[in-house]
Amino acid sequence: MPGRFLTISPVSDSWRHHILIDDLRAARQEKGWLQRTLAERSGTSAQAIFRLERGIGSASTLEAAMQALDFRLTGIGPGKSLAGQLRNRRLKRKITIEALAKRTGLSPTTIRSVELGGGSVASVLRILRILAPKAKRRAPERAYWGQGDKDDRDSRFTPPDFMDSIYDAFGRVDLDPCAHPSSPVIASEKYILANGGDGLRDAWLGEFVYVNPPFSDQLTWLRRAHEQWQLGNAATIACLVPARTDSAWFHETLRADADIYFLQGRLRFLDLRGDTQATPFSLMLVIFGGTREQKERFANDVPGFWMDRSEER
Ligand SMILES: C[S@@+](CC[C@H](N)C(=O)[O-])C[C@H]1O[C@@H](n2cnc3c(N)ncnc32)[C@H](O)[C@@H]1O
Repeated sequence: MPGRFLTISPVSDSWRHHILIDDLRAARQEKGWLQRTLAERSGTSAQAIFRLERGIGSASTLEAAMQALDFRLTGIGPGKSLAGQLRNRRLKRKITIEALAKRTGLSPTTIRSVELGGGSVASVLRILRILAPKAKRRAPERAYWGQGDKDDRDSRFTPPDFMDSIYDAFGRVDLDPCAHPSSPVIASEKYILANGGDGLRDAWLGEFVYVNPPFSDQLTWLRRAHEQWQLGNAATIACLVPARTDSAWFHETLRADADIYFLQGRLRFLDLRGDTQATPFSLMLVIFGGTREQKERFANDVPGFWMDRSEER
């Protein structure tokens, strides 16, 4: 009887102040992003983000914001999207849609819609409270440099001798989408924040793009590289990043679409003062669209080994 669901009040304040929403706002602020920035990066409007941070709006806005912020939940189970996670969680707990409808006060139709990525933020939060009351924000993935503030830690420049191996293997760098005036990287085009460039906004155009991104935002940049490569904007993209292999994205997407070179030994990056810094973590070079010849030339020059795309095996 659909009528009985109409007695539920639309969005109460307790839904709006769900911890997920507070954490989402905190994640945006930690990155130093304005609501407008998040809107741009998630393909929505500043008004939609303003509403989202009050627990109002569509579940698709929530998903898009979570993707842009690389905001994940633990305590809910696997799934590529929040909608998928909610469905998997319900199935794992052997709760029928009808039973969940009763417990959340939502209609079965709404629950079906949420599980397909539709519905409202308020509905998602209601379902989350019943299915995964302990779900919380997964700690952001980070590779820490010991000292300095975030800007300082994110400005570690590729050493020139490593760049020589890159030029030898892949040729001229057409674009460095996260460049810095003090970096020794030689590229035909550089996106520099201070000059109004934004590698997370501007298209990556060129035959070969080299990326040594801010490590505090590693996954965002790898996702961006993957997207730009898939769009056909760049034929080959090489990303030098910490060898972090624990994300689902690493296993599901990078494993399938990228060739990954695990470096033996550690590079010494240059800091803003021009000093070299020991790297406190292992590194990998992630390549989208690399040729066999490029990979062979690189391996001849730099100690390590390739993990080739799974489809090449
Ligand atoms: C690890 S450094 C690497 C610099 C240079 N690519 C290299 O390899 O020597 C990363 C740089 O990205 C810059 N950056 C951060 N966010 C950016 C953005 N959205 N667009 C362009 N550059 C950005 C930071 O200023 C930082 O200096």
